[in-house]
Amino acid sequence: MNLETVLEIKHFTEDLFWFKTTKSEAWDKKNFQPGEFTMIGMGDKESPNRAYSIANSPDDEHIEFFSIKVQDGPLTSRLQNIKVGDKVEVSPKAIGTLLLRNLDPDPCIAGNGRLWLVSTGTGLAPFLSLARHPEVYEYYEQVIVTHTCRTNAELVFREELEEAGATVYQTVTREEPGERRFSGRITDNIANGSLFGDLGIDGEFFDIARDRIMICGGPAFNNEIRNMLEKAGWEHGTMRSPGHFVQERAFVETL
Ligand code: A2P
Repeated sequence: MNLETVLEIKHFTEDLFWFKTTKSEAWDKKNFQPGEFTMIGMGDKESPNRAYSIANSPDDEHIEFFSIKVQDGPLTSRLQNIKVGDKVEVSPKAIGTLLLRNLDPDPCIAGNGRLWLVSTGTGLAPFLSLARHPEVYEYYEQVIVTHTCRTNAELVFREELEEAGATVYQTVTREEPGERRFSGRITDNIANGSLFGDLGIDGEFFDIARDRIMICGGPAFNNEIRNMLEKAGWEHGTMRSPGHFVQERAFVETL
């Protein structure tokens, strides 16, 4: 069992927190790739281990995670109470589909690629890893992170993402948007074209020659956006057959 030590914790809202751990020698053999997830737990048999996306760049010498809190959740009811210095079990093996190499590189080769990282809730986590990894900017001319949450308080990490070079588009669905934020579900803002207008991008939909998309969020959102893209002729990518978009569910329902 690989245990890491908790270095820092931030509680954003009653339902949302972030923490940072050590990155032990166990990771030296094989580092994670940006966008991947691993299994974490309390290091005992009282709670199950669950899949968590890693929320920071593989170049860092620590690991970050972003989590909801479920008061009676078998893991997060305990995980939310961790303190600096506590140990958390973290498997030093990461996997996942939100990988740059699963996307068709034509726009990168053309030199005008835009990478869209589209998330709801804690689905932002893998994109915090990707958008803070310098390699992404070598491939794509522009990296746009979209994040949709119920409330303004849940829209976190804007500054960190902008500092890394990403364009950030945040929307809220259950209250008035704050400064530099927009209203509505991202799926609606794509369908009615307001996403592109709000960002000053020409066109009414994504451009298959130029845009590549990664998606991570709740199941209903995932299904809706996937259907929308497939209807428009976009193909999901895998390692064997890179495509126009890739998708992973945020692991919210398992916590
Ligand atoms: P809404 O408030 O309209 O349900 P949750 O907190 O339930 O995980 O949701 C996170 C965000 O994802 C909320 O803003 C929610 O909007 C939004 N959302 C839920 N379902 C969908 C969907 N099918 N398409 C787009 N966004 C969705």
